[in-house]
Amino acid sequence: MSTAILLLKNIGKIFETEELETHALKSINLTVNKGDYVSISGPSGCGKSTLLSIMGLLDVSSSGEYFIEGVNVTDLSLDQAAEVRNAKIGFIFQSFNLIDELSVFDNVALPLRYHADKPNNATIKKRVIECLEKVGLSHRISHKPNQLSGGQQQRVAIARALVANPAVLLVDEPTGNLDSKSADQVMDVLDQLNKVGTTICMVTHDPRYADMARTKVQLLDGAILHSPGVKLVG
Ligand SMILES: Nc1ncnc2c1ncn2[C@@H]1O[C@H](COP(=O)(O)OP(=O)(O)OP(=O)(O)O)[C@@H](O)[C@H]1O
Ligand SMILES: [Mg+2]
Repeated sequence: MSTAILLLKNIGKIFETEELETHALKSINLTVNKGDYVSISGPSGCGKSTLLSIMGLLDVSSSGEYFIEGVNVTDLSLDQAAEVRNAKIGFIFQSFNLIDELSVFDNVALPLRYHADKPNNATIKKRVIECLEKVGLSHRISHKPNQLSGGQQQRVAIARALVANPAVLLVDEPTGNLDSKSADQVMDVLDQLNKVGTTICMVTHDPRYADMARTKVQLLDGAILHSPGVKLVG
């Protein structure tokens, strides 16, 4: 059997403040295999973003173990976590998080400029254009983000997430700031990427979009309702 891309074993997360303890995640077991398309849904506050942050090594769990491509990443230092994150994870957020002062090309190129492989300019150019073609925006390389529609900006963010060829795309509410037509276009792009082999794990409130995933995970109060082992037809 091939190694899982992401493997979470009994992951728990407690947020502690002076007067309050929040059990945001309770013993989460989840496997994401190569080529999977997983959606994570559930009511506000159920722990979706917390789970995605732990998967993306932006936060650490309070208990349990976490493996990326078979490597135990539960207790990495901040530097080690950043290194694994840059090499393995592509993020897409609701708010696009593009840099307004940079062109589309430079936004997408950014992860490669900090990459451990230190690709040269010709390699960067080829890869950036390849990724912009995948999201249908290679004709917009010189534009600034504020010269694009919301849906186009999110597609630039997808290209940026893809550019360093990550093992998995982690996506949090990609359509939250978009009108329904742009949202449908963004979801089509994700669907196409998955069809050619990109592994995707996506948080969404929208049941229509959750249904596009092949594995649907329902969270409630920090725990998984549906077994992720059960593949539901989307
Ligand atoms: N930094 C933090 N400190 C304390 N509590 C937190 C923190 N981050 C999240 N929480 C709590 O953990 C729980 C899960 O939050 P999380 O953001 O993961 O929910 P969510 O499912 O993503 O919600 P939404 O759909 O509204 O985005 C909530 O009760 C939240 O208040
Ligand atoms: Mg959230």
